[in-house]
Amino acid sequence: MSQLEPLMQEPLDLLHSMQPYVSENLQLLAPIDKAWQPTDYLPDMVAEDWREQVERFRSASQSISDELLVVLVGDMVTEEALPNYAISLNLIAQEYVGDVKLPWSQWLRGWTAEENRHGDLLNAYLRLTGRVDMRAIEVTVHHLINSGFNPKSYPDPYNGLVYTSFQERATRISHGNAGKLVLADGDSYLAKICQRIAGDESRHEVFYTRMMGRVFDLDPAGAMLAFRSMMRTIIAMPGRLMYDGKDPDLFDHFAIIAQRTGVYTVRDYASIIEHLVKTWDIAGRSVTGLAAKAQEYLCRQAERYQRFADEMTSALEKRPPIAFSWIHDRKV
Ligand SMILES: [Fe+2]
Ligand SMILES: [Fe+2]
Repeated sequence: MSQLEPLMQEPLDLLHSMQPYVSENLQLLAPIDKAWQPTDYLPDMVAEDWREQVERFRSASQSISDELLVVLVGDMVTEEALPNYAISLNLIAQEYVGDVKLPWSQWLRGWTAEENRHGDLLNAYLRLTGRVDMRAIEVTVHHLINSGFNPKSYPDPYNGLVYTSFQERATRISHGNAGKLVLADGDSYLAKICQRIAGDESRHEVFYTRMMGRVFDLDPAGAMLAFRSMMRTIIAMPGRLMYDGKDPDLFDHFAIIAQRTGVYTVRDYASIIEHLVKTWDIAGRSVTGLAAKAQEYLCRQAERYQRFADEMTSALEKRPPIAFSWIHDRKV
């Protein structure tokens, strides 16, 4: 195997020069003394009426469809593989992340700490429902962390910001949609959990999108090329390598159910691209040469994906039922 290329120096220097702007935006992390914790959304096991609390919590969860359960498990597994993402962001920022006081380092650690609650809370919720095979789920998490994660953002650190801007919005949309659907099914506890997590993703999205927006202002050509290189292939979802030891196509199968339930669809994917193209004012940037070609390409993407979304949607809806180990091999 060939060695990794060194990270591109100019983008790194530019990100480094943005420390004051990162610092201004550290307020997008919640102060720890005011931050929510998973315990706030779970039955109080110390209370005298803990049995009743658990009973109410469990009975609300019985109304959730198997399809939604599968999507929640897939989302939880993706959140639980946080070590993968923390490692990959550290790689992107390795030049300065070693200095604990620098704003970029503060952000990356604070972001990791906030994200860490997402998997914890969904994990506790799912265990309490008694409706899923926790061991099969844990095996999946084990595999996913063991397999690692390649967002294809190396060696250009701008790519990492494009990727996280996309991903935070994707998770905000999917947790938000899941919250609405489980509320309709009758589980208000889980609806609050999903909304809470979506709220974090939303703050994180604002941060990464602002940072990349600043990169577009400071280095429009480099930013344009980075965005194009990320859009050349379908953006690799962070849970793409999930495996339960049984189903080699587990992620694809999970994605089909996410599409079918409407938690996260090909149309959402297209809408995120459209949003980023608008927010970063891709059409309005003045660039020349290769960057101008990239600009043209990017301006066509949202429409291209919308068309693709229509084809994918009808193809996915025709798929036969799939068994998931996560729900004791029941088919959905
Ligand atoms: Fe998250
Ligand atoms: Fe996130």
